[in-house]
Formats: sequence, C-alpha cells, structure tokens
Amino acid sequence: MKIIKTKNYQELSKKVAEIISEQIKVNPKSVLGLATGSTPVGAYKELIKSNLDFSEVRSINLDEYVGLDGSNEQSYRYFMEKNLFEHINIKKENTYVPNGKGENLQKECEGYEEKLSELGGVDLQLLGIGLNGHIGFNEPDKIFGKNTHVVDLDESTLEANARFFDSIEEVPKQAITMGIKSIMQAKKILLVVNIPEKIKILEKAIYGDITPEVPASVLQLHQDVIVVYCEE
Ligand code: GLP
Repeated sequence: MKIIKTKNYQELSKKVAEIISEQIKVNPKSVLGLATGSTPVGAYKELIKSNLDFSEVRSINLDEYVGLDGSNEQSYRYFMEKNLFEHINIKKENTYVPNGKGENLQKECEGYEEKLSELGGVDLQLLGIGLNGHIGFNEPDKIFGKNTHVVDLDESTLEANARFFDSIEEVPKQAITMGIKSIMQAKKILLVVNIPEKIKILEKAIYGDITPEVPASVLQLHQDVIVVYCEE
C-alpha cells in the first residue's frame, strides 16, 4: 500500500487527478471505477481542466440510491453528469451507473456484474470512505465478499448523506452497490480521504484488524492500493 499525504484538499485533488490522468495516458481505453460524494469533486474539476481525451474511456460507478432515476438531482447518475461527464468527451454510452429505478433490483445487480466482466474488470477504482468505514455503500457487516447487491443503509450513513437532501426523511433507505468482492477485483485502487473526522477510521482501515466491521480494512489484502489523504 502506498500512502501519500498532501498539504490540503487542493493538492489532494491535483494528485488524484494526476494518477487518473496517468492511467488514461497509459491506456486510453481504461475502465475507471468512479465514486460520488464530496471527496472526488475537486479531482473531477482538475480532470475537466486538463482537457484529457476520454473518448475511449469506459467508466463504471460504485453505487446508486434505490428509487431515484438519473434525472433526480440527488441521484448519483445526475451527480456524475453534472460533476464530470457533461464537461469531458466521454461517450455517454460508455458510462455505467446502477439503475436505482429498475423494476427487478436483483436483475439489475446481476446485470451490473455481467457488465463489469464484459468490460474486462476495472483498471483503476476510485474510492472515498464513509465515517463508518464503508466503501461504495458496503456498510459494516459480519461478512465480506458480496458482489453487486442491494443494501439497507446504516442510520449513520443516512445522517451523513442528509446534507445533500432537504431533510433526512428524503434520503433513500436503500442503495445498489458494487460489493467488496467486485471492488477488490479492480487492478488498482485509489482511496481518497480528505476530512479530519475521517482520519481515525482511515487509520483503523489501513493499520487495524481486517474485519467486515470496517469494510475498508479489506483493502489491506489488495496488492495495488494508493491512499491519498489530507487533514484539512
Ligand atoms: C457515500 C458514497 C461513498 C462515498 C462516501 C463518502 O455514502 N456511497 O461512495 O465515498 O459516502 O462521501 P463523502 O466523500 O461525501 O464524504
């Protein structure tokens, strides 16, 4: 595991964008595993500024709320469009986000796993971390190992994500997320952490016991992880 500490969020965003850019330069047809949340927004801005060629890039996102379709401003599809896709030359048909409005969610999950293998797996997976150690929407649990699945969100996740909604009642209670197994199959993983409140859980994840109670701790078992973090 390679750990990089940056001075501040701006430097962190530049570093993350640089790592993603390198990946695309080395392989213009890269499959990027992308994340939402406030953490990657700065890196996405840097990528937009860079004028990098995304015309052959494929992207597949970690997760989506159940019940929201892509036109809903709180959906992760909408987030990706506004914060990245609309500003770069990626082809819309090469971008994948789970369909939270699917009639048969089980089928959606299976289809997502099929899409992952059709794409040949993820070359570079970008991850944030939740205050409870979740990655994607894999909440603390008794076991690791699930593929893409529907998850009941923890109360603490609903509280943390309520800031994006008018009230906590509006936060969907479920999400579709790539599983730990799907995430661990990525060739390279980039974990990004940027607020002081998350330093404790980051330390637990990278130096503590490997346990599904801290989902991100599984990353200790992956052979190519870069952690970029700052404390302000
Ligand atoms: C959300 C997302 C995660 C994200 C995490 C941290 O719930 N499902 O993919 O990494 O929480 O979000 P933020 O970057 O806003 O702190």
